[in-house]
Amino acid sequence: LSSIRVDISGIEPGTQLTVKWLGKPVFIRRRTEDEIAQAKEVDVATLPDPIARNANIDDTAPATDQNRALPPAGVEEGAEGSEEWLVMMGVCTHLGCVPLGEAGDFGGWFCPCHGSHYDSAGRIRRGPAPENLPVPVAAFADESTIVLG
Ligand code: FES
Repeated sequence: LSSIRVDISGIEPGTQLTVKWLGKPVFIRRRTEDEIAQAKEVDVATLPDPIARNANIDDTAPATDQNRALPPAGVEEGAEGSEEWLVMMGVCTHLGCVPLGEAGDFGGWFCPCHGSHYDSAGRIRRGPAPENLPVPVAAFADESTIVLG
């Protein structure tokens, strides 16, 4: 797997960076506390796709907000600040369009091709897309660098 390093030091809370990796867009979003809180309120059992779809954890793990986020280096999963970063493929799981950020009815992304709404954890909430936006293999190398792959 070819990996790339992404400098995330310039990403402010409430903004995101899109990078190209393996020919596809990857969204790296630094979420606000509101976005995280909104995602945490959701009962996973009510989600169209209740699986986390996170390549870094067990492939049967539930789609909790925590299981979708990428914990920064040195921050334990579940600890404060561990859920700020969301890294996922910017490829709609319906037919592969690129969803728009800060759009849709669930505080996340909206795919304009056929109307799929993703929430602030990148989980499908309404529309034809069958699965949550996938979280690729990723890890923090240090506090300002994420390695994809
Ligand atoms: Fe996104 Fe169809 S490709 S809704």
